[in-house]
Amino acid sequence: MAKILIVFGTRPEAIKMCPLIKELKTRKGIELKVCVTGQHKEMLYEVLDRFKIVPDYNLEIMMPNQTLFDITNRTLERIKPILEKENPDIVLVHGDTSTAFCTALACFYLNIKVGHIEAGLRTYNLNSPFPEEFNRQAISLIAEFNFAPTNLSMQNLIREGKSQNSIYVTGNTGLDALRLNISNDYNHPILKWAQGSRLILLTAHRRENSGEPFKHIFKAVKRLVENFSDIKVVYPMHKNPAVRILAEEILSNSDRIKLIEPLDPYNFQNIMANSYLILTDSGGIQEEAPSLGKPVLVMRDTTERIEGLEAGTLKLAGTEEVQIYNMAVELLSNKKEYEKMSKSINPYGDGYSSEKIADILCNSLYKKN
Ligand code: UD1
Ligand code: UDP
Repeated sequence: MAKILIVFGTRPEAIKMCPLIKELKTRKGIELKVCVTGQHKEMLYEVLDRFKIVPDYNLEIMMPNQTLFDITNRTLERIKPILEKENPDIVLVHGDTSTAFCTALACFYLNIKVGHIEAGLRTYNLNSPFPEEFNRQAISLIAEFNFAPTNLSMQNLIREGKSQNSIYVTGNTGLDALRLNISNDYNHPILKWAQGSRLILLTAHRRENSGEPFKHIFKAVKRLVENFSDIKVVYPMHKNPAVRILAEEILSNSDRIKLIEPLDPYNFQNIMANSYLILTDSGGIQEEAPSLGKPVLVMRDTTERIEGLEAGTLKLAGTEEVQIYNMAVELLSNKKEYEKMSKSINPYGDGYSSEKIADILCNSLYKKN
């Protein structure tokens, strides 16, 4: 028996790890344990419920207005006894959250092997995204198995000196979740409300966009609604009060804007599939939208999802009101430009990445045992 411990703590990690958990549970010879740090609470539980995953451990670290110090201290302290008790052959972490970084660091201190899912994404700008660019580079120093979603992410790792033998190009498991969730006969009150209008889906949450950038983003959205009578906007707001207070202040007075609670991934991804345009600073949404043929304006100064830019479905819009507004106006007014961006392509995988990762893990761990 080979023992695998999977650790995650936030919504996007959960969405991308649950398909892998489901896959590994079908494999013989694997003893699988799941630990959530609870860096997120409601937003994490929604995903676990949707995928019917019950973790073996919950470190319950989340506190209101948590700082990076809180997350780091509490994860390191609370994960140590679990790692010591379970003593797994490998720990799998995902992406670039503080949960993933702290877990990898704890494994390094305890000499436990780390496998990194979604390895090799880079902007090479430590301030954007902050602190995620640091987190993922640091995890790459530690990880012995690197599951890179694309060739580009593999090349980043090779350039940084990682051994080619430690890297596997598998696609992104986020697309596995999308494949499992998208339904042709989907309906939802939001879609009923938006009937006859072009629906813009908005999300915003990045730490480095706190304050002025969020104000710019929300003001640009407000201007769009004021100037286009045929659009409606839905914003499933992140639970972070720092974003919600500003969103409510700037966007709450229009009957063509709905500020709603975060959606579980099934509802969110199906609403995304039925939207006209997406405005977001999210990472995962940049990977999902291209396979649905939905144009995305990325409200950040950098992106690590270069494949989506090259494919033409993503455009960097920055965080200035005027530029976001102008770029959205172009897409709302120029059909040719819109159609150029709405090609349905899939640079991030085929929806079967979990199977590939499970095969690789089983082969390597069986060999060892
Ligand atoms: C974290 C990740 C980020 C990821 C994002 C996904 C880090 C440093 N950042 O950022 O990479 O893109 O998750 O959403 O790891 N909150 C709740 N309930 C919840 C979730 C959050 O109340 O279910 C509130 C808490 O007040 C918390 C705040 O949101 O203090 C921010 O959460 P936190 O995990 O610190 O940062 P995110 O911006 O969510
Ligand atoms: N998502 C969701 N409900 C929402 C908003 C987003 O399920 O209300 C999903 C989305 O489909 C994607 C993931 O959450 O899979 C992205 O998470 P987020 O934007 O919070 O984090 P990031 O990807 O930027 O790290």
